[in-house]
Amino acid sequence: MKAPIPAVGIFDSGVGGLSVWRELVRLAPQVPTLYVADQAHVPYGPRPPEEIRRFAEAVTRFLREQGAQVIILASHTVSASALWPLREAFPEIPFVGIEPAVKPAAARTRSGVIGVLGTLGTLNGPLMARVVERFARDARVVPRVCTGWVEQVEAGLLEGPEAEACVRAHLDPILQAGADVLVLACTHYAFLAPLIQGLSGPEVLLIDPAPAVARQALEVWRTRAGEQSLSLGPMARFFTTGDPHRFQEQLRQLIGRDGPVEGLCWDAAERSLTLEQGLRQP
Ligand code: DGL
Repeated sequence: MKAPIPAVGIFDSGVGGLSVWRELVRLAPQVPTLYVADQAHVPYGPRPPEEIRRFAEAVTRFLREQGAQVIILASHTVSASALWPLREAFPEIPFVGIEPAVKPAAARTRSGVIGVLGTLGTLNGPLMARVVERFARDARVVPRVCTGWVEQVEAGLLEGPEAEACVRAHLDPILQAGADVLVLACTHYAFLAPLIQGLSGPEVLLIDPAPAVARQALEVWRTRAGEQSLSLGPMARFFTTGDPHRFQEQLRQLIGRDGPVEGLCWDAAERSLTLEQGLRQP
């Protein structure tokens, strides 16, 4: 069997992590990537941490088999539930996680009120409590679980009256509380950023962590795989546990990318992933 190409693995419950993939490939077009979307289980936000950990371990094993040398948890929810357990379970592989970007928000707020938009799993988790305690003692942090936004992005509903109404339902209370900086603490929300910015007005600053996460992952990748790894060739493989044809359309809509998507199957106990035989043709 041919040895797999060393690559950066990227993992999210769905399309949200594509916001990180896009930044990574913009910074380093020659870095080989493997992207897994666990769309059979999206959204992760309301799920218990133990369940997310179980999914994340199986995805990690799969990404390792396919050649991942570094894994980006391109999901705040996965990072909140699984980053430390994964580091313990797979000490041989570096993981890059994401925490709510409260630190840069605290440095930029003028009103002293920071809105943090995220999922239940992220905003209720210990990682969130820690960043608020460390970086925002002098600010007022207003967390908001934006129920429905992940599903909205998965459905491709990024503009128009319906999309606007869903976004307003969570955004208005935060703006009314006086927030002048909004932290996008869910990678899916990056795709709603134009809508959120339009509704908030130019005075409000949005912080999307994707560029910083991509920069950090690239540093780790360089250290791990060496400079020559930056010119291995622009290989990008996309996998989903959902419908590969649908994911292809989402790639087109969200990141303007055409290309095959490989289907993955969970085993019955949802502890391991295997590649579907052959690519399904549309
Ligand atoms: N995009 C992920 C995050 O950053 C997961 C969202 C979900 O599946 O609920 O939190």
